[in-house]
Amino acid sequence: MTNTSTLFTVTPGGALKGRIRVPGDKSISHRSIMLGSLAEGITEVEGFLEGEDSLATLEAFRAMGVSIERPGPGRVIIHGVGLKGLRDPTMPVNLGNSGTSMRLLAGLMAGQTFDVEMVGDESLSRRPMRRVTSPLAQMGATISTSPEGFPPLRIKGGCRLKGIHYDMPVASAQVKSALLLAGLYAQGRTCVTEPAPTRDHTERMLTGFGYTVSREGSTVCVEGGGSLKGGHVDVPADISSAAFFLVGASIAPNSDLYLEHVGINPTRIGVINILRQMGANIELLNEKEVGGEPVADLRVRYSPLKGIRIPEEQVPLAIDEFPALFVAAACAEGQTVLSGAAELRVKESDRIQTMADGLAILGVESSPRDDGIVITGGQIGAGRVNSHGDHRIAMAFTMAALRANEVIVLEDCANVRTSFPDFVPLANRAGMVISEHVVGR
Ligand code: S3P
Repeated sequence: MTNTSTLFTVTPGGALKGRIRVPGDKSISHRSIMLGSLAEGITEVEGFLEGEDSLATLEAFRAMGVSIERPGPGRVIIHGVGLKGLRDPTMPVNLGNSGTSMRLLAGLMAGQTFDVEMVGDESLSRRPMRRVTSPLAQMGATISTSPEGFPPLRIKGGCRLKGIHYDMPVASAQVKSALLLAGLYAQGRTCVTEPAPTRDHTERMLTGFGYTVSREGSTVCVEGGGSLKGGHVDVPADISSAAFFLVGASIAPNSDLYLEHVGINPTRIGVINILRQMGANIELLNEKEVGGEPVADLRVRYSPLKGIRIPEEQVPLAIDEFPALFVAAACAEGQTVLSGAAELRVKESDRIQTMADGLAILGVESSPRDDGIVITGGQIGAGRVNSHGDHRIAMAFTMAALRANEVIVLEDCANVRTSFPDFVPLANRAGMVISEHVVGR
């Protein structure tokens, strides 16, 4: 833990207006570096998220000998080395706060000829890794974790992997992706069956890079031994970052906000489905497909919200958006009930508890449960809320200030840089008044 804390001081009230483009999709940015590095030839990426998480992935591949240029904002040029071209990084690879980097790389590293150690920050060092290391062990990988199943991960090189059929016990795109990436190096077919649909960016991008991926119902398979061909990746704006503005504009009277070029992959649009069910006014305009991913401009206008029971099948499709959705629920009339979302307890923070604690400080009643929460809408009060180093908690409570009656101060917000480095200036441009300071703890 550092001995400074980044504070956001947010002026209450206001409305969100104008046109903005939030930064590139984090999941797609990670995958563009991974597949671009393993491809043959050059891959050019535009719209890349220059946040700490995706940059951690970029630096990891540089450390493994891949030449990666950054010619301008959001632009990355990767000189692919082929599936067998990575080199021993010789030092532990530090993935900071990024669970996606660590879990997807666990799969990829299991297929290399050299040993690798992967480490992370304090939050990542408490996140469960057995969900990837145990199916990878079934494929023949040798990976050690801490006794609790946490990082650091030590992955042995030179293991011969064989394809398996894995029935995922939790709906996780990170687990599915880790196994498919290991499957590129395995003998035979690797198949993963998901209990509910999860984001499919890995499958789409593998296909875009010329690798055959087959899908039958809820099972997706790859055959080892193929190759990837470099190309062009256009990263759409991240719907998970747009989510804060979708909620902000929905709860703040007089708002009318236009969000440009947002990824609307059907496995990611739970936030739109849930907000619409609560009464939000969100329009999808200029829908098109860019590089294998659906994209649209989103227009969102203020609309009074009502509490709902969130359909469980929407949970994996909105898994990162619950901090923002809890703020929508806090501003809605009546109760919102969430269940089937135990995964929220093992994200960058325990998002059920962190949100419940923050809402209580702001005078909003909620009752956390093991796998969800019940939130009763009401007036947002003032207070000082700890984000616990969780980027999405910090940004969600920033939006709550649009309906607060006094200033909200948010502590421990530095990790907003992991996914949304220009959040404060962009939110201010859209009409908020947020000031950011660094103080001693
Ligand atoms: C991600 C998958 C999700 C999500 C994370 C990004 C990905 O995690 O929460 O932010 O890029 O594959 P899980 O697979 O753990 O649900």
